[in-house]
Amino acid sequence: MTIRLETERLVADDVDYDQLILRDRVHGSLYTDPAIFDKEMRDIYENQWVFVAHESEIKEPGDYVRRRIGTQPLIVARGKDLKVRVLLNRCTHRANMLCQSDAGNATLFRCSFHGWTFSNDGRLQGVSFRGGYEQELSELRAELGLAEAAQVGTYGGFVFANLTGDAGDLEEYLGNAKGAIDRLVQLSPEGGIDLSAGWMKHDNNANWKVVNEVQVDGYHPLFVHESLYKAVKPAKVDYSSDELRVAVRDLGGGHSEVDYSREYQNQDREFIWFSSIPRTRVPNYVEAMEALHGPEKTHEILVDGPPHTFIWPNLFLAEMQVMFVEPLAVERTIQYTAPIKLLGAEEMSARIIRQTEGAMGPAGFLIADDAEMGERNQIGLHAQEPEWVLFARGFESETVEERGITSYDRTSETSQRGMWQHYRTLMTEKTND
Ligand code: FES
Ligand SMILES: [Fe+2]
Repeated sequence: MTIRLETERLVADDVDYDQLILRDRVHGSLYTDPAIFDKEMRDIYENQWVFVAHESEIKEPGDYVRRRIGTQPLIVARGKDLKVRVLLNRCTHRANMLCQSDAGNATLFRCSFHGWTFSNDGRLQGVSFRGGYEQELSELRAELGLAEAAQVGTYGGFVFANLTGDAGDLEEYLGNAKGAIDRLVQLSPEGGIDLSAGWMKHDNNANWKVVNEVQVDGYHPLFVHESLYKAVKPAKVDYSSDELRVAVRDLGGGHSEVDYSREYQNQDREFIWFSSIPRTRVPNYVEAMEALHGPEKTHEILVDGPPHTFIWPNLFLAEMQVMFVEPLAVERTIQYTAPIKLLGAEEMSARIIRQTEGAMGPAGFLIADDAEMGERNQIGLHAQEPEWVLFARGFESETVEERGITSYDRTSETSQRGMWQHYRTLMTEKTND
C-alpha cells in the first residue's frame, strides 16, 4: 500500500515567497511562521528525497530504526526479503504510534493500544478479538497494512525516501553532491562506511533552516569556535589566516559545501583534517589504503580528506561525522550526530569515535556552541525590526564553475544563498500549480 498525501491542510500557499526571498536577504518570518513551516513539511520534506537512515544501521533482516520525514513518524525496516521499506509509524486502527524503540530487530510490531500486529514489511497480521468486525481477517489485512513511502533509494549506503512518489531519480537529485559521498566512502579501504556506533541527539530550540545554515557557514568559526582552535593548535593550520584557500560552493539543488581540499593540497600534507596525525599512528590503515589504491592515489585521498557538504534538505556530511536534522516544529529541531566508522580501518575508526566525543559530545567543544548560536538566533528573530536576515557576503566574488557557484572567500554566504534560492523554487512551484 502506498500513500498519496493530501494537499488540503492549512498551509501558507498565499504567501508571496518571491517577496520574502531576495538574492541577498530573506525575511525573518520564514523562520518563525507556523503556517510556512507546515507548507515546508509538505512541499519540501514530503515531496522530495529525504535522508532517513544508513544501510549499516539495518544490516540484518528484521533490523529497524525509528525516524521522521518532516514531522511524520517512520519505521525504516529491512524485511526478510532483505528489502528496506520506509513504513509510516501509525497503527491503522486508531493511529497509535506502533514502534517506540529507536532501533532494534523485530519480525512483528505489536500495537500497545489494542494489540494489533504488523509484520516488518508493513502487512497487517493479527487483529485482537476480531469477532467484533464483520469482515474476514483476509479482507482486513488487504485493507489495513501500514502506509509506506512511495520511493526508497540508496547511494553509497545512505538511504533516502520520498513519501509521494514525485521526487524523480535519486542520483539526479543528489547532483553535484553525489561526489561528496564518493569522497567520503573512498576514505575506507573497503569503500564503505558504518554509522552504527550510535546517534547523539541535540534538541535545538531553533528552526531547522537555522540549524542547517550554520553547518556550511565559514564566517562564524573564528568567533563561535575560538576555544576549539586554541585546543587544536597542534594541528598547525592557522584557521585565522586570510590566506586559507577554501572554496565555498553552492552545488545547486540546495546542496552546498565548504571545501578545504585546495588548502590541504597547497600544503601537500596528509591528515591535516585529522589533527595532522603522522602515518605511523595508523600504519594498518595506510597499508590497506595503499594495497587498494596504490601509493599515489592514497596520498591524494589522505591529503584531500573528507567532505564538508550539506545535502538538501536534512543531511550533513560533517567530515568525520554524519549529521541530520528532523524538524519537529517551527522552532524546534532535533539534530542527530554519529561518528563515521571507516570499513576496514579499525585504528582510524577508534580515533574518529574519540574525536567525535570531544567535538560533538555533551561536553564537546564544537556542536554545543553552534546549538547555542541557533537558539540565540531564534530569539533574535522575534524582534520584528529589522525585518530582514542578510546573506550578502561574497556575492561579488562568486564565479560559476563546473561544480557550482563558487567563492574563494571562506566567509562568503554562497552556501546559504544557494539553499534559499532552491527553497524559493520549491515553495513557489507548488503554489503555482
Ligand atoms: S490503535 Fe493500534 S490496535 Fe488500536
Ligand atoms: Fe560551527
